[in-house]
Amino acid sequence: MSQIIVTDRAGTDHTLDARPGLSVMEIIREGRLDELLALCGGACSCATCHVHVAQADLPRTGAATPDELDLLDSSDHFTPSSRLSCQIPFTAALDGLRVTIAPED
Ligand code: FES
Repeated sequence: MSQIIVTDRAGTDHTLDARPGLSVMEIIREGRLDELLALCGGACSCATCHVHVAQADLPRTGAATPDELDLLDSSDHFTPSSRLSCQIPFTAALDGLRVTIAPED
């Protein structure tokens, strides 16, 4: 089973089971990290699934799309490693991915 490591807003790491076919947002929600609200359900319209991807993992996740950037741009916590976790499809190539849930805007 693949896994991802998610750091919550309190700084605690959570290792979550992950499977292809889900987005990183769905994996975090299935892992019961409810502080990631994901209010729009993955429609790329709310930005409440904002995460920061670990620097070392950025080459694996790729860059944010223009639609993501439009939403992320309005966040006070936007960084070059910002992504909307609903827009990162999990694949086996992302096993071990590390992300941190962005502070609430
Ligand atoms: S869940 Fe709304 S933009 Fe990702």
